[in-house]
Amino acid sequence: MATQLVKCSRCKTIITIAGKPGDKLNLTCPQCNQKGVFTFPKEKIIQPLPGNLATIEVSNLTKTYNDFTAVNNISFHVKKGEIFGFLGPNGAGKTTTIKAMLDLLHADQGTIHLSGIDVRKHGKEAKKHVGYMPEKVAFYDNLTALQNLEFYAEIKHVSKEECPSLIKEFGLADAGKKRVGTFSKGMVQRLGMARAILGNPPILILDEPSGGLDPRGVVQIRDKIREMKKKGTTIFVSSHILSEIQEICDRVGIINKGILVAQDTVDGLRKKLSLKPQLTVTVDSLSTKIENAVRNLPGVDRVTAQQNTLEIICDGALKAKVILAITNAGGSIQNLQTKEPTLEEVFMRYTEA
Ligand SMILES: Nc1ncnc2c1ncn2[C@@H]1O[C@H](COP(=O)(O)OP(=O)(O)OP(=O)(O)O)[C@@H](O)[C@H]1O
Ligand SMILES: [Mg+2]
Repeated sequence: MATQLVKCSRCKTIITIAGKPGDKLNLTCPQCNQKGVFTFPKEKIIQPLPGNLATIEVSNLTKTYNDFTAVNNISFHVKKGEIFGFLGPNGAGKTTTIKAMLDLLHADQGTIHLSGIDVRKHGKEAKKHVGYMPEKVAFYDNLTALQNLEFYAEIKHVSKEECPSLIKEFGLADAGKKRVGTFSKGMVQRLGMARAILGNPPILILDEPSGGLDPRGVVQIRDKIREMKKKGTTIFVSSHILSEIQEICDRVGIINKGILVAQDTVDGLRKKLSLKPQLTVTVDSLSTKIENAVRNLPGVDRVTAQQNTLEIICDGALKAKVILAITNAGGSIQNLQTKEPTLEEVFMRYTEA
């Protein structure tokens, strides 16, 4: 139901009327009895094209706070069913980007399409496609967890039926009847995730969903994200837990001082930085001869010796040559492990400056 102010064509008295889109009302002016008809405009139905469903497209997004540029001309595209990790140091612009993506703050420049719908022009319609978990999750303190979820189900125009099972799924069954004002931070966070996935939205936007969660909660959120991906949900997630992002994300974007400095798969970023794996070799008895034999191999970048163990940074393809060099120098290999460069190393390199 919408309200509308209309002006009497004869005496110019303002009348407040209420109706639904498409309703036709016969009116009589209370002042001069002039009769008239008012038709509420039909609601525009904005439907995404099937190919655009559950996609995220951000182009040339810039957001300034007074003179400070928090997000500087960033562009990225997330495909349907992809998990895109959004990383960056504190204050880099992650939350600002997310809020702009949802039209929760006014962007200075750029376009954002969610499921192909222009968020800045049709925010209400675009947001129907999204489940959002903000950085600072907030609920009505005086309502219970269940009452809160049911309230949001009503706002989202989705069924309330799944609310009790969601509460249970996120480990809040025992607290379901407690007022949210008495909840711990982690409990509020869990309820925030339940609210985000309410109604099974095609796009999930999560701003640090694991913040304040216990290890079991972190695993639960990770599993849920994976489960949603299997259903075809597109997930945009910002996080500081790099091991988790490395494990679940198809691609990552790294923002530093408002600039998107990298976006690719974790593997692709490693290659761009030419980061090499680390071989850890334990021998029965380490000698300078063995250490030098490895150090002198072309393609070996760094060798660190500790007791009977050598840590070697080198091209992955050099593994066989390293083994041979150690054996020829009289070493007997007890253990050998290869560790690929982690997302943490990639992150550190891209956010150095
Ligand atoms: N309302 C605001 N007014 C002025 N400056 C703001 C406002 N909100 C954010 N900023 C500034 O914009 C920059 C980006 O902030 P943002 O919250 O987007 O960072 P973030 O990447 O989400 O950081 P974190 O990892 O700490 O959550 C920061 O320098 C911050 O101080
Ligand atoms: Mg933030």
